[in-house]
Parts: sequence; structure tokens; C-alpha cells
Amino acid sequence: MALETISDIASLRARLAQENYIAFVPTMGNLHAGHIHLVKLAREKGQCVVASIFVNPLQFGANEDLASYPRTLEADCEKLDAAGADIVFTPSASEIYPAEQTMRISAPPIANELCGAARPGHFDGVATVVMKLFNIVRPSVAVFGKKDFQQLFIIRELVRQFNLPIEIVAGETQREASGLALSSRNGYLNASQRLEAQRLYRTLQLIVENVQKGNRDYSAIETQSSQYLTQLGWIVDYISIRSAATLAPATPQDSDLVALAAARQGRTRLIDNIEFSISA
Ligand code: PAF
Repeated sequence: MALETISDIASLRARLAQENYIAFVPTMGNLHAGHIHLVKLAREKGQCVVASIFVNPLQFGANEDLASYPRTLEADCEKLDAAGADIVFTPSASEIYPAEQTMRISAPPIANELCGAARPGHFDGVATVVMKLFNIVRPSVAVFGKKDFQQLFIIRELVRQFNLPIEIVAGETQREASGLALSSRNGYLNASQRLEAQRLYRTLQLIVENVQKGNRDYSAIETQSSQYLTQLGWIVDYISIRSAATLAPATPQDSDLVALAAARQGRTRLIDNIEFSISA
């Protein structure tokens, strides 16, 4: 069956009324192999696969790239069709926010750390639109990428704390051969920045190796890694070793960890992470 494109909530609800096991992949478009991996996971899980493409103004700060965020609808639809999605929901901003969204989800305190420290209100905007999309699509399963590890954590909290009957499935980060995590924002990088960008993942790999060799001075590792990238011209937002279960700063008692980083090449902000385990 060919991909159906639906842009208004009423038509989507009417179309989905006949479906009983929907797998949902929310996106902001400019789709790459990372998104397609999520759609394929959704295809394995659901009888009906719905993807949404909506660049959500609520999650962008005043000086961020909302206006320039790449919009590639035609190519996105071709990719979704090829990946086996049934429906793409492409609402306008006025369809999702017909009036000012004065009620918002207040994301948990962890939303003010890591990416949230540099992007105040970002995760409130993400949680609010995801809650709205969940209410519109009413999926049984929703798929999110692990590259946005903090986002995934907050969505899981949203589902848990609001008792939403939705299974959250996490897709592995997809990478270029160089290790660079696939991201819509990689398209902003020039050739030399793109070459340098692979160092972010390499730095996280070195952190993991260091911890797995027995170094438990997480604070020193974070500082050294940050200084290393800064010397090479990066503007580092954070490098942090956290508990994978709670996202709290890792303690020597934690065994399931995640090393996370956000840093800028020029004006392009890149994020990445590696989950790993140690014997505590
Ligand atoms: O990860 C994204 O693309 C967005 O944050 C999401 C989940 C689609 C909400 O706008």
C-alpha cells in the first residue's frame, strides 16, 4: 500500500479509527538512515505504522535554528514509503497550536541538566508536543532514537508518570563509517568540520575505555576530555558520565553507565552518547 499523507487532526483520527495496533515514529523530518531504522523497528512492532513530520516551534530557543531547520518533505515521504510506513502526518504549526499553548508539560528536573542547561525549556517543548501527538495518534508503541538519550529518558518518564498505555521502543544510534552519529544537523557542517566531527564519538570511546580500565575519577575524565576538545577548537557544552538508569551523575557504585557529550563545531551543535557497563 502506498504511503498516505494526512495533514489535519480530524482526518487522521478518522483514518486511524479502523486501526488497532499503531506503531508511531515522531520526527521533525529531514530524514536520514537513523530515522529509517526507527520506522523499520515500528514496522516490526505495529500493524499500522504512522510517522509524523513536524518541526515543533515549542522546543526551539529564541536563537536556535527553527527558521533554517531543513525541510525536505518530498524526499522524506519517498524514504518513509520505501521503509514501509503506512501514514505520514504532516500538520502545520497552526494545526498543532491553533491558539497559544499556555498549558505545557513541565519536564522533570533532569531536563535542566545536560542538553537542557544550554536549552532552557527545550524538554518542556518536546514533552508537550509528544503528549499532543500521542493524544492525536493514540499509538500502542512509539519509537525514539538513543542518540537523543536524555529525550528518550524524559519520554519514558512522561509515559510512566502519566500512565500512558504506550510501549516505548528505543532504536540504536546509526553512524557513518567514521563513527559520526547520523543527525539532521550534520548537513550544516562544512567539509573540515565534518572531518573533525567524528572526534566527538572517538572522545566518548576513549572515556569508555578509560572507565573500563578502572579509572573511577569521573570528574577528572570529564574535565580532561572537555579540555582536549576545546584545544581542538570545539565549544563544549558538556561531557558527562551518568547512570544510564537515572541520568544522575555516575557514582563508583553504578555499573550501567552512559557517557554523553554535546559540543559545537562552528555554529553546529552535535550530541552523542555511548551506553556501557562496568563491574561496580
Ligand atoms: O527527536 C525529535 O525529532 C523531536 O524532538 C520530536 C521527538 C519529534 C519532538 O518534536
